[in-house]
Amino acid sequence: MKILVTGGLGFIGSHTAVELQNEGFEVVLVDNLSNSSIDVLDGIEAITHKRPIFEEFDLREKQKVESFFQKHGDIAGVIHFAASKAVGESVEKPLLYYENNIGVLVYMLQELKKKQSANFIFSSSCTVYGQADQMPITETAPVKPAESPYGNTKQVGEEIIKDSCKANSQLKAIALRYFNPVGAHPSGKIGELPIGVPQNLVPFITQTGIGLREQLSVFGDDYPTEDGTCIRDYIHVVDLAKAHVAALQRLLKNKNDGNYEVFNLGTGKGSSVLEVIHSFERVSGQKLNYKIVDRRPGDITQAYADTKKANEVLGWKAESTLDDAMKSAWEWEKIVRS
Ligand code: NAD
Ligand code: WQD
Repeated sequence: MKILVTGGLGFIGSHTAVELQNEGFEVVLVDNLSNSSIDVLDGIEAITHKRPIFEEFDLREKQKVESFFQKHGDIAGVIHFAASKAVGESVEKPLLYYENNIGVLVYMLQELKKKQSANFIFSSSCTVYGQADQMPITETAPVKPAESPYGNTKQVGEEIIKDSCKANSQLKAIALRYFNPVGAHPSGKIGELPIGVPQNLVPFITQTGIGLREQLSVFGDDYPTEDGTCIRDYIHVVDLAKAHVAALQRLLKNKNDGNYEVFNLGTGKGSSVLEVIHSFERVSGQKLNYKIVDRRPGDITQAYADTKKANEVLGWKAESTLDDAMKSAWEWEKIVRS
């Protein structure tokens, strides 16, 4: 079965391509390399011994999207990762984010509407919950007003898909709300490749560990948590990738309950910033240079997933520990810089 993975050379897309190939799917990747490297294709091939089909183009070019679907009429499912994801940049360039994250989503759904049956998986985010009132966060927790245009694209994106599913019964979709994806493939062949100064905690830690950054700033230690630093649910990217295969299988086997579903993807365990640092120190055997600074505007105190729905309905569970994830991230950092 042929599966389209948009943004397939990106961080989560590349790991998902590996898991799909491991399960015997034929994978077609589309990417414009705006936030990834062509070398990732070699990494996927090295792990799976199969080179996925790759088409390089910008999905904002509607004509190219149309031609792509004409050429690949036998696509059985689409996993849509392609998007811009930098929260800060989205505040400065909102229209870029709406064009890329919403415009492209609409083009994809327009093409899927032409098919007799279509299966669609969407990369959503725990950011839709904002600061949830209760922990752990279930899928029924209210969606809070978005803090950034990026966050808004995920909320609006979900609404667009839900409306499309309502209007077109041939379309089945699942929105996956990721918590904090981290780590790298244990083979050391693919991993996260942030461009410029990383905004996310884990790549900043590993880059500090390797000496590329002088010091990690810990944004606040006066939050109402045990050690005062913020709590997140860090999920290993390989676990996350496997959940996409489980979600896709659910749609392909018509096991879905209604044609639009939402799942949280996390470990269910919250870790503080200091716990992540200590995990890094454990697995790397070295001290990390960090200092406590002011809070980062817009940060929430805590977010971790209730994973019951994904565990029971998708039959999937995150297996890796925080130490596993930090170890793989560290190994990857060392390989990238060697
Ligand atoms: P990423 O930037 O590594 O991957 C996205 C890929 O899409 C990149 O390779 C990029 O080149 C490609 N792309 C972007 N716009 C494109 C376009 N117009 N045409 C073709 N290709 C395009 O990001 P990621 O971390 O792998 O995230 C994948 C998805 O998951 C995104 O939708 C993101 O918003 C979502 N998500 C990510 C996180 C996270 O922390 N990484 C958390 C929640 C949700
Ligand atoms: C984690 C924790 C920081 C960097 C972001 C997006 C969200 C989602 C995931 C896509 C926080 C602290 C961080 C640093 C620090 N992406 N931190 N020093 O904020 O949970 O979410 O990525 O949908 O939309 O907003 O992740 O990795 O940036 O931060 O102390 O240099 O680490 O304050 O508590 P976050 P993060």
